[in-house]
Formats: sequence, structure tokens, C-alpha cells
Amino acid sequence: MKVLVFGSLNIDLIFSVDHIVRPGETISSSALEKSAGGKGANQAASLAKAGMDVYMAGKIGGDGKFLLELLESYGVHTDHVAQYEGATGQALIQLDKNRQNAIVLFSGGNALITDDEVNHTLSQFGPGDIVVLQNEINCTAEVMREAKKRGLKIYLNPSPYNEGITKLPLDLADAFFVNEIEGAAMADLPQGTPFPVILESLVKKFPHAEIILTAGKDGAFYGFDTIREKGDIIDLPVADTTAAGDTFTGYFIAARARSLSVREALAFACKAASIAVSRRGAMASIPFAGEMFD
Ligand code: RIB
Repeated sequence: MKVLVFGSLNIDLIFSVDHIVRPGETISSSALEKSAGGKGANQAASLAKAGMDVYMAGKIGGDGKFLLELLESYGVHTDHVAQYEGATGQALIQLDKNRQNAIVLFSGGNALITDDEVNHTLSQFGPGDIVVLQNEINCTAEVMREAKKRGLKIYLNPSPYNEGITKLPLDLADAFFVNEIEGAAMADLPQGTPFPVILESLVKKFPHAEIILTAGKDGAFYGFDTIREKGDIIDLPVADTTAAGDTFTGYFIAARARSLSVREALAFACKAASIAVSRRGAMASIPFAGEMFD
């Protein structure tokens, strides 16, 4: 079984700040780090670090070649990452003294993927394979339709959530990975709705899809048909929550692909995400499988 991550590759610029900048305010940052990110690339890295055979598809400019080198060092196949004469996606990340973040995205190559690139990439995959998608590229709907035609399983992380999500062919998804904000929005519930209520609503709304709801300090919830499970985080000091959800998604998919039970997969993915938040950065913070048993 091959896993294709069709998604974003970003250069993350992490500004360490006292607080997230307010409207009209100018503040200084005490440190600036440039690192590898993008929800798609992070999830590909997580899957690969968890031991899966992973293929990344997307688009970068010349400034993003270091992202490919890093992904390849984790064992990710990058032949389906196109290159163009322009900028790679960028994420301006403010990380405050309480380890909260705020992110501004510039899409760059992530928004310039063509139908031909989608079709060519999907033609290399077939029944039994998995495609993992997020919401940082321009062709998510096309990938979903083409993947369904070719018999792939479709796992969607609708993040970052925006109006565009409602226009996707959501009925084609076999699993949704959502946090409480995305989950509440997809379920048409107010923000702050309790996790179990969000879960039940999504299970009812998407009866053919597995629902995986990440809940920060409260761990993660799973719902499908009559099955309900819960996983817990491990208590580690928080350094940076960036890419916690991406780490969770990769490790959960890898665990299930290896036939672990839902409960075991939740525990495994929660542990990986807990380790990731105890470190700074996105892709670099994701643990390798070997570190999971320390
Ligand atoms: O999920 C974390 C990622 O979101 C960051 O790496 C940043 O690039 C944004 O896409």
C-alpha cells in the first residue's frame, strides 16, 4: 500500500514574540528561525518517520529545494513535487511566550497546481492506496474526484478551515481528521461545543466516514458507526504546538495501516503529537518511530 500526500510545502518563518501582534502595533521578535513546514509536507514527514512508504505531491519554487532534501532524508518520495519559477509557500508564524501561535500564509506554488499535474500524479496510484489531503492547495476537490475514480481511500484534514471546505465533495472522504474548530464548523455547531457533541454530530452527518477529532490537552476522539474510542496525551512541557495535528494525523494513519486497533492508533498518535509539542518547529519536531518507545 502506498500513501500519497497531495498538499502544501511551506517555508516556515518563526518569530519568537512576547505576545501576538495587535492591530496597528509594531513589535520586535527575540529570535527568527527558518524551518520546513506546510501541512502537507509535515504529514508526509510524520508518515515517513512512522515507517510508511510515502509519496509527496505539490509545487515549490527554487527557494524550497531544502524542503525536498529534508523530506527525502526521511525517506519520502518527492518525484511528484513540481517546481516552478516563483516562490514556495510561506508561513509567517508568531510564537508567543505562552507557546501560543498565530500563522499568516502566503500560498506561492501551493495555489498553482494544474489539472495535468493532478491527473499525472493520480495515474501512478490505484485501489488500496491512500491519499491524504489538507486545505492549503488549490486542487483538493480535483484530487478527491480523481482519487475516488481510481479507487484510493481519501483522508481529509480540512485545515485551515474556510468557506472553501463546504464546496469540496465531502461525501467522497473515507476519514476526516479535525480539531475542535474545524469539527464544530463542519457540524454547523457553535465554537466551544463539547467534543462528544461535535463527534456525534459529525458521525451522523458523514455516516460513511471515520471521524477523528483531536482535542488538544483532552487527547483525541474517534467515531464511526457505533464505535467510539478515546486517546490521551502524555504530559510533557509544551514548547510549540505547531504541527501537533500533522504529527497526529501521520501517526494515526500509519498505525491503522499496520493493523493496530483504533484504540492503539489513538494512543500512538497522541504520544507522537505530545512529543512534537515538546519541541520547537514543525517538521523537525515530529518524532521518529524509534523515539516512541523510549
Ligand atoms: O500545521 C502546521 C503548518 O501550518 C506549519 O508548518 C505552516 O506551514 C502551516 O501550513
